[in-house]
Amino acid sequence: MIANPKTRIAQINPEHYSHFIEHLGDCVYDGIWVGPSTPVDHTDGIRQFTIDALRDVGPAVMRWPGGCFADQYHWRDGIGDPESRPSTQNIFWGGIEPNRFGTHEFVGFCQKIRATPYICGNVGTGSPQEMMDWLEYCNGNDDSTLVEERRANDALEPMNIKYWGVGNESWGCGGHMQPHEYAALFRNYHTYLSRMDANVQFVAVGHDATWNRDLLRALQRGTAVPNLQALSIHRYFSRDRKAFVYDEAEHLDLVAEAHLLEQDIAQADGTLKNYEDPAHPIGLIIDEWGVWDKEKATPEHGLRQPNCLREAIIAASCLDIFTARADRVTMTNIAQTVNVLQCLIETRGAEAWVTPTYHVYDLYQDHIGHDAIATHVSSPTLDVLDFRQSPVHQLSAAASLSSDGTRATFSVTNRHFSETLGCSLNIHDGNMGDVEGRLLTGTDARAENSPANPTCVTPIPLDVETSDNTVRLDLPPLSVAVVTASVS
Ligand code: AHR
Repeated sequence: MIANPKTRIAQINPEHYSHFIEHLGDCVYDGIWVGPSTPVDHTDGIRQFTIDALRDVGPAVMRWPGGCFADQYHWRDGIGDPESRPSTQNIFWGGIEPNRFGTHEFVGFCQKIRATPYICGNVGTGSPQEMMDWLEYCNGNDDSTLVEERRANDALEPMNIKYWGVGNESWGCGGHMQPHEYAALFRNYHTYLSRMDANVQFVAVGHDATWNRDLLRALQRGTAVPNLQALSIHRYFSRDRKAFVYDEAEHLDLVAEAHLLEQDIAQADGTLKNYEDPAHPIGLIIDEWGVWDKEKATPEHGLRQPNCLREAIIAASCLDIFTARADRVTMTNIAQTVNVLQCLIETRGAEAWVTPTYHVYDLYQDHIGHDAIATHVSSPTLDVLDFRQSPVHQLSAAASLSSDGTRATFSVTNRHFSETLGCSLNIHDGNMGDVEGRLLTGTDARAENSPANPTCVTPIPLDVETSDNTVRLDLPPLSVAVVTASVS
């Protein structure tokens, strides 16, 4: 791979490495909230392992309370005396919602892991008034009744929730709307919410190319879409809902499917360019993405699925795609942080451990704050075609450079099931020194961590050779490496 320091794409925001939690299965209850009277180690009812593990990977933003659950959630059910909170039906994921983890617990969790909170509001069964009240309760600073109520609930200072989603998947579980119906609602909500707090960012529900075009068209007045700061899209990789068998053909299908993100981003980018005011570009947020084993991760099983080395390879490939499109993508949130779908942490009672995907987030921290730079990758190809009907590269790669140009980070992933890949890294017209790297790999695609072997898949120092300003390394099959170097 040759990285070109002169072709800076955009800064890689910390928000690229953000997360999503939903009241679903064991994500919130057990994964995060264990309550104040449990033998499990905790701080203020939040599982200590989850706090420590997440703090170490520095999640920039945490999205909550859903997902589909967001459009049935009424925030008032989750504040005040925990003993007096109602129990409600979780209509999408089953079971009874005890409402022990509400706004204050969520914000407390975010403070503990140093993440910015992102609340997804209820459009499906809520109202502009309900969401406006929630916003006032959280962010207000005047002596209104709602703000006094928050203070009485022990939050003296405004919570400063920066991101507010106006519904979730309004084309599906969020109300099965048409784009023009959602556009009318979005305009209505935005009118009142933005008057309540002009400093927050409102996120509109996006979807596929047709929805995005029709939505932006419906929102358009004059020449540019007013009031739209960010559009969110989701992408899950589920191999056409077939059962997962972890063989090579399936792995290749998943690798190819992950490249659909390139198409999603390119299509959304084209649409946004057509409708936005260039002086106020609209951010693209991919606030749910990841591998979804539709056979195992069913609502009955709390959307729980194995999280192996294979998922880590997909995570790295996606993060490289986001880096290459840092010019448009402003935030991405993997689904879902703990115990659900492509998670970073798993818990079972008192036991807790991190997944291979967690380690990818840990390794990729070296990109944060750098500028993404253009790369030229020459690589053997895999025996699979992407959405363009082009063969997929064996190597997934991305590169970034500190703003002063003195430090470079390379992420490289060998996606071959069984073959090692020799890899060389160069900076065009630059010298590299102080080269360091870490490698994540395992015995095979199914390698996973567990309570019995929590470090089965864990990063190890990487052997690198540097000569003639070229860094050389061998990437074992199914491996991810991140290399940093000083540049002069
Ligand atoms: O993450 C699981 C579900 O997937 C979310 O609730 C929904 O937004 C999406 O369809």
